[in-house]
Amino acid sequence: MAPKKGSSSSSSGGIGGWLKLFAIILGVLSPIIYLIDQNLDRFYIFEPANLHDVAKRAIAAHGNDTQSVVHFILKELQENPKTAPYVNDNIDNEYFFNNAGGAMGGMTIIHASVTEYLIIFGTAVGTEGHSGRHTADDYFHILRGEQWAYVPGEFEREVYKQGDVHLMRKGVIKQYRMPELCFALEYARGWIPPMMFFGYADLFTSVLDLPTAWYTAYYTGKQMIGNLLIGKF
Ligand SMILES: *[C@@H]1O[C@H](CO)[C@@H](O)[C@H](O)[C@H]1NC(C)=O
Repeated sequence: MAPKKGSSSSSSGGIGGWLKLFAIILGVLSPIIYLIDQNLDRFYIFEPANLHDVAKRAIAAHGNDTQSVVHFILKELQENPKTAPYVNDNIDNEYFFNNAGGAMGGMTIIHASVTEYLIIFGTAVGTEGHSGRHTADDYFHILRGEQWAYVPGEFEREVYKQGDVHLMRKGVIKQYRMPELCFALEYARGWIPPMMFFGYADLFTSVLDLPTAWYTAYYTGKQMIGNLLIGKF
């Protein structure tokens, strides 16, 4: 009886031990994450109203010369003491493909941290797909071209034009399309790391493009870790 009891308790003790550890980690982390979640806005360095304003002024200054529009926006963020330390000054050399939700485009990261990202995303040939169900509010500023969106139950498409912002709140999903050339300044605020799963899914289940997976991980990691090291959560 005694050896049997001993052996059964040692095998279930292994699993039980892990479960206990998991429960402790969950118990410690949950209130911390809850507390951070309630105070996420304290970590934000970008302001949606300012981004929309600079996007519109950049378009007014440079029209459809999108590279100059992007440089105008970047320059202003680099001159603003609140954002300057956290802005990537090498975006021109860090464009890479993104496949997500069936859509494909090119992107470069202006900023990425645990609570925010700011990227240039777009394509010169058009694309269509699932927006993804995200853990952040997403402000999609159209710099050039048009973006269309559709929600089940509607019978007309939403159309976002040059200078418009398409705001998708946390958890909202849409089918979207860039009918042809379209570039945008995309700003997300909320919990960014969970969004990476959506950003990676097509890479590993469909396109199997390992160099692109590497660029995605490298450029995102460089931003996220670099910003964490200088105190930007
Ligand atoms: C950009 O090009 C489109 C299509 O030719 C045009 O309708 C739009 O007015 C142009 N935008 C600017 C700011 O020049």
